[in-house]
Formats: sequence, structure tokens, C-alpha cells
Amino acid sequence: MVHIANPILKNGELEGIKEVLDSGMLAQGEVVADFEEEFADYVGASYAKAIANGTAALDVAMKAIGVKEGDEVITSPFSFIASANCVLFQGARPVFADIRKETFNLDPDKVQEKITDDTKAILPIHLFGQPADMKAFKDIAEDHDLFLVEDCAQAHGAEFDGRKVGSIGDIGTFSFYPTKNMTTGEGGMVVTDEEELSEKADLVRDHGQSEKYSHDVLGYNFRMTNIAAAIGRAQLDRLEEWNEKRIDNAEKLSSGIKDIEGLVAPKVEDDVKHVFHQYVIKVEEEYPLDREELRERLHENDIGTAIHYPKIIPEQPLYKENGFSGDGYENAKECAEKVFSLPIHPKVSESDIRKMLNILEV
Ligand SMILES: Cc1ncc(COP(=O)(O)O)c(C=O)c1O
Repeated sequence: MVHIANPILKNGELEGIKEVLDSGMLAQGEVVADFEEEFADYVGASYAKAIANGTAALDVAMKAIGVKEGDEVITSPFSFIASANCVLFQGARPVFADIRKETFNLDPDKVQEKITDDTKAILPIHLFGQPADMKAFKDIAEDHDLFLVEDCAQAHGAEFDGRKVGSIGDIGTFSFYPTKNMTTGEGGMVVTDEEELSEKADLVRDHGQSEKYSHDVLGYNFRMTNIAAAIGRAQLDRLEEWNEKRIDNAEKLSSGIKDIEGLVAPKVEDDVKHVFHQYVIKVEEEYPLDREELRERLHENDIGTAIHYPKIIPEQPLYKENGFSGDGYENAKECAEKVFSLPIHPKVSESDIRKMLNILEV
């Protein structure tokens, strides 16, 4: 079976874990600090703070920039739920703007239309591994004096204009869930160039403590363990190699799919490095099978697939109950109806790709 995700483990990870076990220091400690330093260096940011998971990292980022009740944060309706829920966690309001359907990423023109006096931040997601249009978002954020937060959960190592994502906005967040381009089991990271934001993130993740048992702000236990960080350090060492393999796999798949009528291969923008967390194709009406029939056929032939994402966020029950509606996000809705993801991870071989293309060429 070619699974949709398949993390590569047991290289440096085992030695790193053994060292942590031998040290007896399991919770956040020196290994986490080393991982933070290496990750900040890799991304090109001044500070990195390891967090328990990517959802908590978004929550910490929102608190670091001071999002509160009455504020609005503009984000994408076509993403994983956490990138909007982090706004709700603050008692603030996520405001959705439609996406560009070619890239699945938030559309800067649509964001402009949603800015009000209450807007506090813009939160683009580098969806599926492709950077959002950070030049446009930086300009908008500067013009309107807004914070720019990058959700990089799916884009470790992706670049916009030669700069790694996470280092472009005011603050960036990552997830290290096992399906991601690199993993720590569960885990996340907040990166920033601003010392003040880094200090706030540090407080929020550890009970608001500035010193032992001195609690300055309301905080949580969102710390990462040394065991998770040991896995992360070994994974970071191989991230570039794995991303290259993902890119190579994507090029091979796309060069076959471009000749198949009714299937649309993912568009890669100029000036970006797309790291293909997911390889997402669209099934148009001209294709002889509908999306479910095609996925069924792939599954019968031991090729795993998934739909990222079948329902846009404002149409989720939680959001509908809170007065949101799906109206006005026609591109996002169209993508939710047509897309599905094929395996693209580094364990996908050339013969797996040939097999996928054979099945797609019905
Ligand atoms: C875009 C996006 N943001 C945030 C998250 C949350 O990360 P985690 O699962 O580590 O909490 C994810 C995870 O899938 C994600 O895809």
C-alpha cells in the first residue's frame, strides 16, 4: 500500500532519544534549546520557541501579538480548522477571504476588501507547501499597520523570493505532526525576529512564568519535551533531502498529469520553492470518472488518497452555529468539491508514480 503519509524515522532519532533517556531529563531542557537554535538558524529567524503542537503554536502567536475580544483576523476558509480556531480561542473573530483557485492560497485582493477598523492581523497559510503571496501581504500589512502571521504548518523549508517561510511576517508557526514534512510526534514551533514577541511566546507556553513561581500573564503548559526535540533535531538534518525528493516526485507526477484531459496538476508560482506537503489535483467534469470513482479506483490498486479539505471552514458545524456562512467563498468551495491528494512523500518511488499515472490515464 502506498500511504498518503509515511514518516521516515529510526536514523538519528533513536540515538537522540537514547541520549535523552540516559540523561533522565525528559521535559523541556537543553535538547529543546538546541532544537530551537537549529530551527531558527534553518528558517533564518532570530528566535524560535518550541511548542507542544502546531495548534498551540498558533494560539501562542495570537497571544504574542495581543489578539483579543473585538479584534478581527483575516484568514483563509480553505485550510485545516486550527488556522481559524486560533482566532476564536482569543474571543476574537476570524474573517474569511476567498482563495486563488490555482494555488489554493489566500487571495490578497480579497483580503484588502475585508479590512476594517477592527482588523488586527492577516493570517495566510502556506497551504500544501506552497508559499502564499507574501510580497502582497507584507505591503497590505504595512499600509494598514497590521500584524502578519504565517501559518507554516505545511511548509517547512518552503521559500518565497529566496526567503524561508516563517521569517517573512512578524511571527510564524509550524507543526511537527507525523504527516508533516518533518515530525516530532506531536510538536510545533513559533519563530520571529522580534525579541518582544519571542519573550511573550516564551511566557505563554510556560504558565506565564518570568521566574520560577512568578506568573506575569495567563499561560499554559505548551512546552515541548526533550524526547520530541531529539526526534526533531534528527528530522531537521534530513528535511532538505526529503523536500527535494517531494519536489522531484511532484515534477514527475505533473509531467504525466498535464496530458490527461480533465485532471489539473498543482500550479507552482514563479519565485517560490513549493515543498509539496501535499500533492493536490483537481478532477474536472471532462474527466471520465468523478472524484469518488477515481479515488475508489486508486484505493483498489493500493494507492492511498485523501481530500484536503472536503468542507470549507465557515461551513463547519462549529462555525455555522456561530453565525458564519459559506457565501462569498466560491473559489474555496469549488476546490473543496474537486480536489484530492495523491501520495508524494519521500518514500514514494518511481514505480509508484508510474503506477499512479497508469491508473489516472483511464
Ligand atoms: C495549516 C495547519 N495549521 C495548523 C495545524 C495544526 O497543527 P497540529 O496538528 O500540530 O496541532 C495544521 C495541522 O494539520 C495545519 O495543517
